[in-house]
Amino acid sequence: MSNFTVISRNGQIVPVEGRDGISIMEHIRDAGVDELLALCGGCCSCATCHVYVDDDFQEHLPSLSVDEDDLLDSSDHRRPQSRLSCQVRFTAELAGMIVTLAPED
Ligand code: FES
Repeated sequence: MSNFTVISRNGQIVPVEGRDGISIMEHIRDAGVDELLALCGGCCSCATCHVYVDDDFQEHLPSLSVDEDDLLDSSDHRRPQSRLSCQVRFTAELAGMIVTLAPED
């Protein structure tokens, strides 16, 4: 089984069962982590699904689109590990990754 781990803003560790082709945002929401607002529903227009993906898995992530890059630039909490979780779909290569919710802007 392909799993990954979500760390909430208060440090809660939530194991998540990965489903191929489903966005990380949807996984986090379905796991009941309601801190992730995901206000635009995954249209890449709100940046409220901002997460940090641990370094070991960066090479398995899709490239940043211009829109995602622009939205992340609007965050005071952007780091090299920043991604919008609605723009990353789970694949088997991401099994074992740790995704940490970024602070709210
Ligand atoms: S849910 Fe709005 S940008 Fe990801």
